[in-house]
Amino acid sequence: MTKDLLTLASFPDEDFFKVLERAELLKAIHARGEERLTLRGRSLAMVFEKSSTRTRVSFEAGMSQLGGHAIFLSPSDTQIGRGEEIRDTARVLSRYVDAIMVRTYSQESVEEMAKYASVPVINGLTDKHHPCQVLADLLTIKEKFVKFQGLKLAYIGDGNNMANSLVEGCIKAGIDISLACPEGYEPDPGVLAWARETGRAKMELTREPAIAAAGADVLYTDVWASMGQESEKAQRQRHFKGFQINQGLISHAKPSCIVLHCLPAHRGEEITDEAMEGRNSAVFDQAENRLHAQKALLELLITG
Ligand code: CP
Ligand code: NVA
Repeated sequence: MTKDLLTLASFPDEDFFKVLERAELLKAIHARGEERLTLRGRSLAMVFEKSSTRTRVSFEAGMSQLGGHAIFLSPSDTQIGRGEEIRDTARVLSRYVDAIMVRTYSQESVEEMAKYASVPVINGLTDKHHPCQVLADLLTIKEKFVKFQGLKLAYIGDGNNMANSLVEGCIKAGIDISLACPEGYEPDPGVLAWARETGRAKMELTREPAIAAAGADVLYTDVWASMGQESEKAQRQRHFKGFQINQGLISHAKPSCIVLHCLPAHRGEEITDEAMEGRNSAVFDQAENRLHAQKALLELLITG
């Protein structure tokens, strides 16, 4: 049985904590300028059906730092864009590479890739989940606060892929999560039900950003219109008015709080310029941590 990372809820606890621990070590090794060529001769296929800066570059740089190689595949210049089925692509790629990373629209497509692939499959973002981002987020939180227990994360904005994976990641890690989302933009009901059943940390849903932010250690937001929702942009700008991380909202959180954003950000919408650049902002450490968290993940999935 190969191991995949499709959602954080379905990722074994043991592997989840192992990746976070190993990521800290790999980050320290990298900072010392030492090499760890644990994936020498190994390859990763990266299928991108949506745009990316961080995911693409961090996976590619990560593979090369571990001695391996990454292959970028876009639908416009592969047979994927001409309708070759996922179940065929999965089996073919498995004959060439040691792991497959997929960024696409539906979660079912990634699940299907995993079903037919004989190598590990990594979810590099779907409309429903973004687990790799949350591994990096948790690494950032661990670096700043050392332990997860007793922390509160406030998520402000759209109950999208980021919100779903953050709920799963926080509950798994034991971080209380409070989400402020406008009506009709709540996270996935199945994810919320899983969080309530798991009950490892508290989860709260509110319409008031200030309630969510009260006493928080981490303030988190994401774009109001995700990739694929471009046509809803104007409507969303109306519905999300006030769901913004700004200095006023930061004043409700703990003075030691950190501000996170998965990026790319739309300054002036979900976050102000001041909050992005302010002393509480950890967004660029967070972006860097994509590299270290994914290196740990690749090692675990490829070499066991
Ligand atoms: N946060 C994130 O996944 O960024 P990209 O879309 O640039 O990969
Ligand atoms: N919710 C955003 C995240 C981008 C990393 C999107 O899906 O576009």
